[in-house]
Amino acid sequence: MKKVAILGATGMVGQRFVTLLADHPWFELVVVAASPKSAGKVYEDAVKNRWCINEPIPHGVKELVVKSVEDDVDAIVKEVDLVFSAIDMDKDSIRTVEELYASKDCAVVSNNSAHRWTDDVPMIIPEVNPDHVKLIDTQRKNRGWKKGLIAVKPNCSLQSYVPILKALEQFEVKEVLVTTLQALSGAGKTHETWPEMQDNVLPYIQNEEEKSEKEPMKILGKIDGKGLHVAKNPNISVTCIRVPVSDGHMTSVELSLSKKVSADKIIDALENFENPLNGLDLPSAPEQFIQYHKDEDRPQTKLDRDYANGMGLSVGRLRESSLGWKFVSLSHNTIRGAAGGAILVAELLVKKDYI
Ligand SMILES: NC(=O)c1ccc[n+]([C@@H]2O[C@H](COP(=O)([O-])OP(=O)(O)OC[C@H]3O[C@@H](n4cnc5c(N)ncnc54)[C@H](OP(=O)(O)O)[C@@H]3O)[C@@H](O)[C@H]2O)c1
Repeated sequence: MKKVAILGATGMVGQRFVTLLADHPWFELVVVAASPKSAGKVYEDAVKNRWCINEPIPHGVKELVVKSVEDDVDAIVKEVDLVFSAIDMDKDSIRTVEELYASKDCAVVSNNSAHRWTDDVPMIIPEVNPDHVKLIDTQRKNRGWKKGLIAVKPNCSLQSYVPILKALEQFEVKEVLVTTLQALSGAGKTHETWPEMQDNVLPYIQNEEEKSEKEPMKILGKIDGKGLHVAKNPNISVTCIRVPVSDGHMTSVELSLSKKVSADKIIDALENFENPLNGLDLPSAPEQFIQYHKDEDRPQTKLDRDYANGMGLSVGRLRESSLGWKFVSLSHNTIRGAAGGAILVAELLVKKDYI
Protein backbone atom coordinates (compact mmCIF):
# COMPACT_ATOMS: atom_id res chain seq x y z
CA MET A 1 0.00 0.00 0.00
CA LYS A 2 1.21 3.51 -0.85
CA LYS A 3 0.26 6.17 1.67
CA VAL A 4 -1.41 9.20 0.13
CA ALA A 5 -2.59 12.72 0.96
CA ILE A 6 -5.16 14.93 -0.72
CA LEU A 7 -4.30 18.61 -1.01
CA GLY A 8 -7.59 20.50 -1.29
CA ALA A 9 -9.46 17.60 0.34
CA THR A 10 -12.40 19.77 1.44
CA GLY A 11 -13.30 21.00 -2.07
CA MET A 12 -15.54 19.40 -4.64
CA VAL A 13 -12.78 17.47 -6.41
CA GLY A 14 -11.11 16.73 -3.06
CA GLN A 15 -14.33 15.13 -1.80
CA ARG A 16 -14.42 12.91 -4.89
CA PHE A 17 -10.86 11.82 -4.12
CA VAL A 18 -11.93 10.98 -0.58
CA THR A 19 -14.74 8.67 -1.72
CA LEU A 20 -12.80 7.09 -4.60
CA LEU A 21 -9.83 6.32 -2.36
CA ALA A 22 -11.94 4.59 0.29
CA ASP A 23 -11.03 0.89 0.03
CA HIS A 24 -8.58 1.49 -2.82
CA PRO A 25 -6.43 -1.65 -3.08
CA TRP A 26 -3.13 0.22 -3.62
CA PHE A 27 -3.58 3.63 -1.95
CA GLU A 28 -4.29 4.36 1.70
CA LEU A 29 -5.55 7.86 2.44
CA VAL A 30 -3.78 9.02 5.60
CA VAL A 31 -3.68 12.83 5.27
CA VAL A 32 -6.28 15.40 4.24
CA ALA A 33 -5.08 18.98 3.77
CA ALA A 34 -6.70 22.29 2.82
CA SER A 35 -6.45 26.03 3.50
CA PRO A 36 -5.65 27.52 6.92
CA LYS A 37 -9.43 28.09 7.23
CA SER A 38 -10.00 24.32 7.49
CA ALA A 39 -6.69 23.28 9.06
CA GLY A 40 -6.99 21.97 12.61
CA LYS A 41 -10.63 20.91 12.17
CA VAL A 42 -11.80 17.33 12.08
CA TYR A 43 -12.60 16.52 8.39
CA GLU A 44 -16.29 15.92 9.08
CA ASP A 45 -16.57 19.43 10.58
CA ALA A 46 -14.46 21.03 7.84
CA VAL A 47 -16.92 19.84 5.16
CA LYS A 48 -20.07 20.40 7.24
CA ASN A 49 -22.86 21.85 5.05
CA ARG A 50 -20.74 21.44 1.91
CA TRP A 51 -20.31 17.68 1.54
CA CYS A 52 -21.69 17.25 -1.97
CA ILE A 53 -21.19 13.56 -2.76
CA ASN A 54 -24.19 11.23 -2.76
CA GLU A 55 -22.64 8.87 -0.25
CA PRO A 56 -21.47 9.31 3.33
CA ILE A 57 -17.96 10.40 4.27
CA PRO A 58 -15.95 7.18 4.58
CA HIS A 59 -15.10 5.98 8.07
CA GLY A 60 -11.49 6.60 8.91
CA VAL A 61 -11.54 9.91 7.02
CA LYS A 62 -14.27 11.62 9.04
CA GLU A 63 -12.01 11.74 12.08
CA LEU A 64 -8.79 12.86 10.34
CA VAL A 65 -7.60 16.29 11.45
CA VAL A 66 -7.17 18.54 8.40
CA LYS A 67 -3.61 19.75 7.85
CA SER A 68 -2.54 22.96 6.15
CA VAL A 69 -1.29 22.52 2.56
CA GLU A 70 1.34 25.24 2.92
CA ASP A 71 2.22 25.21 6.63
CA ASP A 72 2.48 21.45 7.23
CA VAL A 73 4.55 20.39 4.21
CA ASP A 74 7.27 18.61 6.17
CA ALA A 75 4.79 16.75 8.37
CA ILE A 76 2.78 15.67 5.32
CA VAL A 77 5.70 14.45 3.17
CA LYS A 78 6.97 12.45 6.14
CA GLU A 79 3.72 10.48 6.17
CA VAL A 80 3.04 9.88 2.48
CA ASP A 81 4.52 8.67 -0.83
CA LEU A 82 2.05 10.51 -3.03
CA VAL A 83 -0.18 13.61 -2.93
CA PHE A 84 -3.20 14.28 -5.11
CA SER A 85 -3.49 18.00 -5.71
CA ALA A 86 -6.92 19.64 -6.03
CA ILE A 87 -6.24 23.05 -4.52
CA ASP A 88 -7.84 26.19 -5.79
CA MET A 89 -5.21 28.90 -5.50
CA ASP A 90 -3.58 31.28 -7.98
CA LYS A 91 -1.43 29.48 -10.55
CA ASP A 92 1.96 30.70 -9.26
CA SER A 93 1.12 29.51 -5.74
CA ILE A 94 -0.04 26.12 -7.06
CA ARG A 95 3.18 25.70 -9.06
CA THR A 96 5.24 26.60 -5.99
CA VAL A 97 3.33 24.24 -3.69
CA GLU A 98 3.46 21.30 -6.12
CA GLU A 99 7.19 21.77 -6.77
CA LEU A 100 7.87 22.02 -3.06
CA TYR A 101 6.21 18.65 -2.39
CA ALA A 102 7.99 17.02 -5.35
CA SER A 103 11.35 18.41 -4.22
CA LYS A 104 10.80 16.61 -0.91
CA ASP A 105 10.66 13.15 -2.52
CA CYS A 106 6.90 13.14 -2.89
CA ALA A 107 5.02 12.22 -6.09
CA VAL A 108 2.43 14.86 -7.05
CA VAL A 109 -0.48 13.99 -9.32
CA SER A 110 -2.43 17.13 -10.03
CA ASN A 111 -5.86 18.18 -11.22
CA ASN A 112 -4.78 21.77 -11.54
CA SER A 113 -3.91 23.53 -14.77
CA ALA A 114 -0.84 25.32 -13.33
CA HIS A 115 1.73 22.78 -14.61
CA ARG A 116 -0.06 21.53 -17.73
CA TRP A 117 2.23 23.51 -20.04
CA THR A 118 5.46 23.01 -18.11
CA ASP A 119 7.76 21.35 -20.68
CA ASP A 120 8.98 18.48 -18.51
CA VAL A 121 5.60 17.70 -16.89
CA PRO A 122 3.53 15.01 -18.62
CA MET A 123 -0.22 15.61 -19.07
CA ILE A 124 -1.76 12.17 -19.17
CA ILE A 125 -4.95 10.38 -20.12
CA PRO A 126 -3.69 6.85 -19.39
CA GLU A 127 -5.55 5.18 -22.27
CA VAL A 128 -4.29 7.78 -24.76
CA ASN A 129 -0.66 8.64 -23.97
CA PRO A 130 0.69 6.32 -21.26
CA ASP A 131 4.16 6.52 -22.87
CA HIS A 132 4.41 10.19 -21.79
CA VAL A 133 5.30 8.99 -18.27
CA LYS A 134 8.86 8.75 -19.66
CA LEU A 135 9.02 12.55 -19.51
CA ILE A 136 9.45 12.10 -15.76
CA ASP A 137 13.00 10.80 -16.36
CA THR A 138 13.83 14.17 -17.96
CA GLN A 139 11.97 16.02 -15.22
CA ARG A 140 13.94 14.31 -12.47
CA LYS A 141 17.22 14.94 -14.32
CA ASN A 142 16.36 18.63 -14.88
CA ARG A 143 15.39 19.23 -11.28
CA GLY A 144 17.64 16.83 -9.37
CA TRP A 145 14.64 14.97 -7.91
CA LYS A 146 15.13 11.30 -7.04
CA LYS A 147 11.68 10.12 -5.96
CA GLY A 148 9.65 13.29 -6.44
CA LEU A 149 7.68 13.95 -9.61
CA ILE A 150 4.81 16.02 -10.98
CA ALA A 151 2.28 14.56 -13.41
CA VAL A 152 -0.98 16.25 -14.38
CA LYS A 153 -4.27 15.31 -15.93
CA PRO A 154 -5.96 17.56 -18.49
CA ASN A 155 -9.05 19.74 -18.21
CA CYS A 156 -12.29 17.87 -17.52
CA SER A 157 -13.87 18.88 -20.86
CA LEU A 158 -11.33 16.87 -22.89
CA GLN A 159 -12.19 13.48 -21.55
CA SER A 160 -15.39 13.21 -23.57
CA TYR A 161 -13.71 13.58 -26.98
CA VAL A 162 -9.90 13.16 -26.92
CA PRO A 163 -9.99 9.36 -26.36
CA ILE A 164 -12.31 9.15 -29.36
CA LEU A 165 -9.82 11.05 -31.51
CA LYS A 166 -7.23 8.49 -30.40
CA ALA A 167 -9.54 5.57 -31.24
CA LEU A 168 -10.15 7.06 -34.71
CA GLU A 169 -6.49 8.04 -35.31
CA GLN A 170 -6.16 5.12 -37.77
CA PHE A 171 -8.63 6.93 -40.10
CA GLU A 172 -6.61 10.19 -39.95
CA VAL A 173 -8.75 12.78 -38.22
CA LYS A 174 -8.41 16.21 -39.91
CA GLU A 175 -10.94 18.76 -38.63
CA VAL A 176 -12.82 18.55 -35.33
CA LEU A 177 -15.69 20.79 -34.20
CA VAL A 178 -16.80 20.28 -30.60
CA THR A 179 -19.56 21.81 -28.48
CA THR A 180 -19.35 20.90 -24.81
CA LEU A 181 -22.36 20.92 -22.47
CA GLN A 182 -20.70 21.12 -19.08
CA ALA A 183 -22.08 20.36 -15.65
CA LEU A 184 -22.24 22.72 -12.66
CA SER A 185 -19.75 20.62 -10.68
CA GLY A 186 -17.12 21.53 -13.28
CA ALA A 187 -17.19 24.98 -11.71
CA GLY A 188 -17.13 23.52 -8.19
CA LYS A 189 -20.87 24.29 -7.83
CA THR A 190 -24.15 22.47 -7.19
CA HIS A 191 -27.81 23.31 -7.94
CA GLU A 192 -28.03 24.66 -4.38
CA THR A 193 -24.95 26.88 -4.56
CA TRP A 194 -25.68 28.19 -8.06
CA PRO A 195 -29.44 28.94 -8.14
CA GLU A 196 -29.00 31.36 -11.08
CA MET A 197 -28.35 28.31 -13.24
CA GLN A 198 -31.88 26.99 -12.75
CA ASP A 199 -33.72 27.25 -16.08
CA ASN A 200 -30.58 28.73 -17.61
CA VAL A 201 -27.69 28.01 -20.00
CA LEU A 202 -24.46 30.03 -20.08
CA PRO A 203 -22.75 30.45 -23.45
CA TYR A 204 -19.30 31.14 -21.98
CA ILE A 205 -16.89 29.42 -19.56
CA GLN A 206 -13.81 31.47 -18.83
CA ASN A 207 -10.55 30.10 -20.37
CA GLU A 208 -12.24 26.77 -21.13
CA GLU A 209 -12.22 26.89 -24.92
CA GLU A 210 -8.51 27.66 -25.10
CA LYS A 211 -7.74 24.69 -22.80
CA SER A 212 -10.10 22.42 -24.71
CA GLU A 213 -8.40 23.24 -28.02
CA LYS A 214 -4.75 23.33 -26.89
CA GLU A 215 -4.42 20.56 -24.32
CA PRO A 216 -5.30 17.74 -26.77
CA MET A 217 -2.25 18.72 -28.83
CA LYS A 218 0.11 18.01 -25.93
CA ILE A 219 -1.64 14.74 -25.14
CA LEU A 220 -1.61 13.59 -28.78
CA GLY A 221 2.06 14.68 -29.12
CA LYS A 222 4.93 12.24 -29.67
CA ILE A 223 7.75 11.65 -27.25
CA ASP A 224 11.32 10.78 -28.28
CA GLY A 225 14.86 11.18 -26.92
CA LYS A 226 14.66 14.95 -27.45
CA GLY A 227 11.44 15.40 -25.46
CA LEU A 228 7.79 15.90 -26.24
CA HIS A 229 6.68 17.21 -29.63
CA VAL A 230 3.24 18.78 -29.47
CA ALA A 231 0.93 17.46 -32.22
CA LYS A 232 0.08 19.76 -35.13
CA ASN A 233 -3.06 17.88 -36.19
CA PRO A 234 -6.03 17.63 -36.08
CA ASN A 235 -7.45 21.15 -36.09
CA ILE A 236 -9.78 21.39 -33.11
CA SER A 237 -12.36 24.11 -32.53
CA VAL A 238 -14.42 24.06 -29.33
CA THR A 239 -17.42 25.98 -27.96
CA CYS A 240 -17.95 25.49 -24.22
CA ILE A 241 -21.45 25.87 -22.74
CA ARG A 242 -22.53 25.56 -19.09
CA VAL A 243 -25.79 23.65 -18.60
CA PRO A 244 -27.88 23.04 -15.46
CA VAL A 245 -26.95 19.42 -14.73
CA SER A 246 -25.12 18.40 -11.55
CA ASP A 247 -22.44 16.08 -13.02
CA GLY A 248 -21.46 14.87 -16.48
CA HIS A 249 -19.95 16.71 -19.45
CA MET A 250 -21.64 15.93 -22.75
CA THR A 251 -20.07 16.86 -26.09
CA SER A 252 -21.46 17.14 -29.57
CA VAL A 253 -18.63 16.36 -32.00
CA GLU A 254 -18.35 16.72 -35.77
CA LEU A 255 -15.19 15.65 -37.59
CA SER A 256 -13.64 14.87 -40.94
CA LEU A 257 -11.49 11.82 -41.69
CA SER A 258 -8.96 11.41 -44.51
CA LYS A 259 -9.90 7.78 -44.97
CA LYS A 260 -13.26 6.62 -46.25
CA VAL A 261 -14.93 4.41 -43.64
CA SER A 262 -18.37 3.08 -42.80
CA ALA A 263 -20.35 3.80 -39.62
CA ASP A 264 -19.90 0.16 -38.62
CA LYS A 265 -16.14 0.48 -38.88
CA ILE A 266 -16.16 3.61 -36.70
CA ILE A 267 -18.31 1.93 -34.06
CA ASP A 268 -16.04 -1.11 -34.16
CA ALA A 269 -12.99 1.14 -33.69
CA LEU A 270 -14.63 2.72 -30.62
CA GLU A 271 -15.91 -0.46 -28.99
CA ASN A 272 -12.75 -2.42 -29.69
CA PHE A 273 -10.40 0.45 -28.95
CA GLU A 274 -6.93 -1.04 -28.51
CA ASN A 275 -6.50 -0.01 -24.94
CA PRO A 276 -2.83 0.26 -23.95
CA LEU A 277 -3.86 -0.40 -20.33
CA ASN A 278 -5.08 -3.92 -21.16
CA GLY A 279 -3.09 -6.41 -19.14
CA LEU A 280 -1.80 -3.83 -16.63
CA ASP A 281 -4.57 -4.59 -14.12
CA LEU A 282 -4.94 -1.02 -12.92
CA PRO A 283 -7.73 -1.03 -10.29
CA SER A 284 -9.58 2.03 -11.66
CA ALA A 285 -9.32 1.18 -15.37
CA PRO A 286 -12.68 0.26 -16.93
CA GLU A 287 -12.92 -3.17 -18.50
CA GLN A 288 -14.44 -1.61 -21.62
CA PHE A 289 -13.39 2.03 -21.87
CA ILE A 290 -15.80 3.21 -24.59
CA GLN A 291 -19.38 2.00 -24.93
CA TYR A 292 -21.49 2.78 -27.99
CA HIS A 293 -25.28 3.20 -27.66
CA LYS A 294 -27.48 2.26 -30.60
CA ASP A 295 -30.61 3.93 -29.08
CA GLU A 296 -31.06 7.38 -30.56
CA ASP A 297 -31.79 9.02 -27.22
CA ARG A 298 -28.53 7.92 -25.60
CA PRO A 299 -26.13 8.73 -24.07
CA GLN A 300 -28.07 10.69 -21.46
CA THR A 301 -26.31 12.52 -18.68
CA LYS A 302 -28.34 11.04 -15.84
CA LEU A 303 -28.42 7.50 -17.20
CA ASP A 304 -24.89 7.15 -18.52
CA ARG A 305 -22.47 9.37 -16.59
CA ASP A 306 -21.79 6.57 -14.09
CA TYR A 307 -20.90 4.02 -16.76
CA ALA A 308 -17.92 1.92 -15.58
CA ASN A 309 -18.07 3.59 -12.14
CA GLY A 310 -17.82 6.99 -13.81
CA MET A 311 -14.54 6.06 -15.52
CA GLY A 312 -15.88 5.10 -18.95
CA LEU A 313 -17.02 7.01 -22.00
CA SER A 314 -20.44 6.72 -23.62
CA VAL A 315 -20.96 7.53 -27.29
CA GLY A 316 -24.06 7.55 -29.48
CA ARG A 317 -25.89 9.15 -32.42
CA LEU A 318 -23.14 8.50 -34.98
CA ARG A 319 -24.32 9.84 -38.32
CA GLU A 320 -22.94 11.37 -41.51
CA SER A 321 -22.59 15.14 -41.76
CA SER A 322 -21.39 17.74 -44.26
CA LEU A 323 -17.95 17.62 -42.63
CA GLY A 324 -17.86 13.82 -42.44
CA TRP A 325 -19.27 12.35 -39.23
CA LYS A 326 -20.99 13.57 -36.10
CA PHE A 327 -21.85 12.00 -32.77
CA VAL A 328 -22.52 12.72 -29.10
CA SER A 329 -20.30 11.59 -26.21
CA LEU A 330 -20.37 11.79 -22.44
CA SER A 331 -18.07 11.36 -19.45
CA HIS A 332 -18.29 12.03 -15.73
CA ASN A 333 -16.43 15.29 -15.11
CA THR A 334 -15.51 14.93 -11.44
CA ILE A 335 -14.74 11.19 -11.65
CA ARG A 336 -13.19 10.50 -15.05
CA GLY A 337 -12.49 14.18 -15.69
CA ALA A 338 -10.93 14.92 -12.31
CA ALA A 339 -10.32 12.72 -9.25
CA GLY A 340 -10.79 9.31 -10.92
CA GLY A 341 -8.64 10.34 -13.88
CA ALA A 342 -5.86 11.44 -11.52
CA ILE A 343 -6.06 8.20 -9.52
CA LEU A 344 -5.71 6.23 -12.76
CA VAL A 345 -2.61 8.30 -13.65
CA ALA A 346 -1.16 7.47 -10.22
CA GLU A 347 -1.92 3.76 -10.70
CA LEU A 348 -0.07 3.87 -14.03
CA LEU A 349 2.90 5.58 -12.35
CA VAL A 350 2.99 2.87 -9.68
CA LYS A 351 2.83 0.13 -12.33
CA LYS A 352 5.69 1.79 -14.24
CA ASP A 353 7.76 2.05 -11.02
CA TYR A 354 7.78 5.86 -10.86
CA ILE A 355 6.06 5.80 -7.45
N1 LIG B 1 -14.67 20.67 -10.40
C1 LIG B 1 -14.16 20.01 -11.44
O1 LIG B 1 -14.86 19.26 -12.16
C2 LIG B 1 -12.71 20.16 -11.78
C3 LIG B 1 -12.22 19.35 -12.80
C4 LIG B 1 -10.87 19.40 -13.10
C5 LIG B 1 -10.04 20.24 -12.40
N2 LIG B 1 -10.53 21.05 -11.41
C6 LIG B 1 -9.57 21.90 -10.70
O2 LIG B 1 -9.35 21.31 -9.41
C7 LIG B 1 -9.10 22.36 -8.45
C8 LIG B 1 -10.12 22.25 -7.33
O3 LIG B 1 -11.42 22.42 -7.86
P1 LIG B 1 -12.72 22.31 -6.95
O4 LIG B 1 -13.87 22.41 -7.88
O5 LIG B 1 -12.62 21.12 -6.08
O6 LIG B 1 -12.58 23.65 -6.06
P2 LIG B 1 -13.22 23.96 -4.61
O7 LIG B 1 -14.43 23.15 -4.37
O8 LIG B 1 -13.31 25.44 -4.53
O9 LIG B 1 -12.09 23.46 -3.57
C9 LIG B 1 -10.86 24.13 -3.45
C10 LIG B 1 -9.96 23.45 -2.46
O10 LIG B 1 -8.71 24.18 -2.39
C11 LIG B 1 -8.47 24.54 -1.03
N3 LIG B 1 -7.80 25.84 -0.93
C12 LIG B 1 -8.29 27.04 -1.30
N4 LIG B 1 -7.38 28.01 -1.02
C13 LIG B 1 -6.31 27.39 -0.45
C14 LIG B 1 -5.09 27.83 0.11
N5 LIG B 1 -4.75 29.13 0.12
N6 LIG B 1 -4.24 26.91 0.62
C15 LIG B 1 -4.57 25.60 0.62
N7 LIG B 1 -5.72 25.11 0.12
C16 LIG B 1 -6.59 25.99 -0.41
C17 LIG B 1 -9.85 24.62 -0.38
O11 LIG B 1 -9.69 24.49 1.03
P3 LIG B 1 -10.77 25.19 2.04
O12 LIG B 1 -12.00 24.35 2.00
O13 LIG B 1 -10.07 25.11 3.33
O14 LIG B 1 -10.99 26.57 1.55
C18 LIG B 1 -10.51 23.42 -1.03
O15 LIG B 1 -10.09 22.23 -0.39
C19 LIG B 1 -9.20 23.68 -9.22
O16 LIG B 1 -7.89 24.08 -9.61
C20 LIG B 1 -10.03 23.32 -10.43
O17 LIG B 1 -9.75 24.16 -11.51
C21 LIG B 1 -11.86 21.01 -11.07
